[in-house]
Order: sequence, then C-alpha cells, then structure tokens
Amino acid sequence: MRIGILTAGGDCPGLNAVIRSVVHRAVTHHGDEVIGFEDGYKGLLDRRYRPLDLNAVSGILARGGTILGSARLERGRLAEACENAPELARELGIDVLIPIGGEGTLTAARLLSEAGMPVVGVPKTIDNDISATDRTFGFDTAVGVATEAIDRLKTTAESHQRVMVVEVMGRHAGWIALESGMAGGAHGICLPERPFDPADLVKMVEERFARGKKFAVICVAEGAHPAEGTMAYGKGAIDQYGHERFHGIGNALAGELEHRLGKEARPVILGHVQRGGSPTAYDRVLATRFGWHAVEAAHHGEFGRMTALRGTRVEMVPLAEAVTELKTVPQDRMDEAESVF
Ligand code: F6P
Repeated sequence: MRIGILTAGGDCPGLNAVIRSVVHRAVTHHGDEVIGFEDGYKGLLDRRYRPLDLNAVSGILARGGTILGSARLERGRLAEACENAPELARELGIDVLIPIGGEGTLTAARLLSEAGMPVVGVPKTIDNDISATDRTFGFDTAVGVATEAIDRLKTTAESHQRVMVVEVMGRHAGWIALESGMAGGAHGICLPERPFDPADLVKMVEERFARGKKFAVICVAEGAHPAEGTMAYGKGAIDQYGHERFHGIGNALAGELEHRLGKEARPVILGHVQRGGSPTAYDRVLATRFGWHAVEAAHHGEFGRMTALRGTRVEMVPLAEAVTELKTVPQDRMDEAESVF
C-alpha cells in the first residue's frame, strides 16, 4: 500500500508523533510506502511531497510542530481538489490519504472522501473541540503551558497587589480556559460558552481584597465575550479562512477592570506559546495510538472514517460525525468550577 500523509490547519504538539507512528506501523508491519505532503492540502494540490522512511521520522517523537509543515487552505482550492479527487489519488499513486487536523481539515477530509478519495482522518487540536472524540492530542500540552503560566502569574500578582488577566486560546470552546483555570486555581474563568458580566469579576476582586487577598488571576478564553450591555466590546471581522478575528478580550477586560476597580490590572496573552514545544507524555501516547489505528483502518478499508478516543479505547468513527458540531463546554462542567465563574 502507498500511504499519503499531511498535517493541516494550526499546528499542535503531537503531530510528529502521529507521523512517526504511521511510518513505523506502515513500513515495519505492513511493508508499505509512505509519502508526506508538505504544508497541508497545499502540498497535495501542488504535488509537493517527499518519501517518509524510518530514518526520516527518527528522533521526532518529542519534537513539537510538524516536520511536514502545515497551512490553512482557502475554500476555493478545496473545491478544485474535490472536482478530481479519484484522479488525483491515482496520479499520486496513493491508496489512502491520512490528513491530520482539526475541524477545518476534517471537513475537507470528509469532502474529499465523498468525492471519491480514500481517506482515513486523524483529529488534532489544542482546543479539544471535536465532538466525536473524548480528547484530542495537543490539548494536554496546552493546558499544562497555561497552568504553569497561571502559577507563575500568581506570585508576581501577589507581590504587586495586581489583577492579572490571562488570555488563553479557544475560539468557540473554552476547554483550555476551564481546565487550566481549574488546575491553576484562577479566581475567575470566562468562557465563550457563557457571556460574562465584568461587574461579577469586580465584586470577586473586591471581596478578595477585603479579606486580605490583595491579588487575583482571571483566565479568559480568546473567544469569551461580555454579556450584552455590560461593557463595550466589538465583534471581529471574518478572515479568508472563515475565522473570526478577535478584538483582544484580555486587553479589553484588563482595561475595564483597572478602570472600574481603581487597581492595577495587567493583560497577559499566551497566544501561540500554548501550541509550541514538546508534547506531554499523554499527548505523545494518544498521538502514537491514533497513528497506529489509522494505518490499521487503512488496511481494513475503513475509509471516510477517523480515529477517536472513546473512554480509553481508540475507535473509528465516520468523518461526518466528527464535523457536525463543535464540542463546547457543557453546563455540568461549568457547574463543577462554579465558584470561579
Ligand atoms: O484552532 C487552534 C487554534 O490554536 C485556536 O485556538 C486559535 O484561535 C487559532 O488556532 C489560531 O490560529 P492561527 O495560528 O492561524 O493564528
């Protein structure tokens, strides 16, 4: 079998672990040939690829990013690929394509699969917002980075009697904010799923100061927004990939709190730091398992499906199921952290 593999969308710690795992299983166990497309679907469309053998993936398990490069794809170019998907697969000589990516990448995978290309998907995203899988690799690493940041910010906040507003990633789903906020013991957490009222945060900070705790750390997801009429905050424009450009809730909220409280408030935007660097042990293991199962699925002809963690088992689920709705933070998970909302 000849397997094509690509990594698309925003990168994420653990991508290299999947690539390595696919190559190991495919080459060593099945005697397959593996090629890697460069820069996501762009490499597939532009026929830019290189062979991946055991040496090519040696030493990449612990390395962040992706050795293949990643890119987002303009919508028009995907239509181009779908128009002649079976011919493209034949021309490239691939028996299966394994795209590794988030919601956008898996939607493209589904369309390519429906257009006749044999596809087995692997989900990834630090946001953990793909509904068909209990977890995506990259999330554990991102939560670890954000938790460490909150721990560190607490000591400097306390020294200066300040409010720190830490903005973490999460456009529509606040999983990183929820879990890093809980793990780091943030005093306030704001999620995209539930509009917040800055007055509640002001009250929380004032109560802390009144009982002698003269600092506070608030963890806010980049997609969080204030409830209607509570604070001025604009809506962002849509970029060429269909993503909303955010207005910087961390900066806006820190400014608002400083103004209302008359105390110093500082914004800290963690940004892409959360996506960089070496994956945690958990993410390396999950990524390795996904790679192994993707190769097995390809050999069983389970096309149009993707790997998914269900409980502790890795199962194959239809790509259609993966991309119908985003997995957002449910009410009961918010209830468990209620004191900090
Ligand atoms: O989808 C993953 C993600 O990391 C989001 O959390 C974040 O909003 C986005 O990607 C950032 O994208 P870019 O790398 O294009 O700035």
